[in-house]
Amino acid sequence: GKQIKLKEVEGTLLQLATVDNWSQIQSFEAKPDDLLICTYPKAGTTWIQEIVDMIEHNGDVEKCQRAIIQQRHPFIEWARPPQPSARNAKDCMVSYYHFQRMNHKLPDPGTWEEYFETFINGKVVWGSWFDHVKGWWEMKDRYQILFLFYEDIKRDPKHEIQKVMKFMGKNLDETVLDKIVQETSFEKMKENPMTNRSTVSKSIMDQSISPFMRKGTVGDWKNHFTVAQNERFDEIYRKKMEGTSINFCMEL
Ligand code: A3P
Repeated sequence: GKQIKLKEVEGTLLQLATVDNWSQIQSFEAKPDDLLICTYPKAGTTWIQEIVDMIEHNGDVEKCQRAIIQQRHPFIEWARPPQPSARNAKDCMVSYYHFQRMNHKLPDPGTWEEYFETFINGKVVWGSWFDHVKGWWEMKDRYQILFLFYEDIKRDPKHEIQKVMKFMGKNLDETVLDKIVQETSFEKMKENPMTNRSTVSKSIMDQSISPFMRKGTVGDWKNHFTVAQNERFDEIYRKKMEGTSINFCMEL
């Protein structure tokens, strides 16, 4: 597993690694019971992080709110040490576009038309959506990997949270599960300062441009893609994902 991880990491690091943490990342070795979350940007990283933390702490909200989410789950590309979580490419592109608009540490996305090209060519900071998703999908049966879809969690959060719980070797009762479903809802996480990034300075993330907890829905791509863009995207998608059995839900 280590080799794959390093390859993935290298991809991520191209732009964000610093000389200081490169050796740390290269020498990172997972312990047998480490749980690594591996998401493509904007696929619901924060959401699955909160779900995992809630399960880990048996639904204890106080314990989950001990610190902001970025500190509770350190990012491997930032300092230390994947569970892949995938979201359909079109919604990811939309979410990523708005994220780049508000995040001053990331390149300006330009116009939506320009960003469309950037994204399909994989010229975004953390690399190509296609490479990420294909890579992890192919690996999922070879390692102990739980592959989750954003759209599934959205449709049936309790069912998906139960899957994560089992994967983590936990057994929580019904009331605790229900509480986790509630606490990790979009509405709750949008209000929660420990998850909504409101503590990040405006000079880094300007939430007045676009909130970090933006819409949290499936299918917002329909409000962004033109008919021509959609056709072009579907064609590129077919080529790039050829031979992959993965299937995404595009609307609920
Ligand atoms: P949108 O921009 O489409 O609203 P990441 O954490 O990987 O950066 O992903 C952010 C995306 O996940 C944003 O998507 C955000 O709104 C969405 N998100 C965060 N928490 C969520 C939740 N509890 N339920 C649904 N979507 C959530």
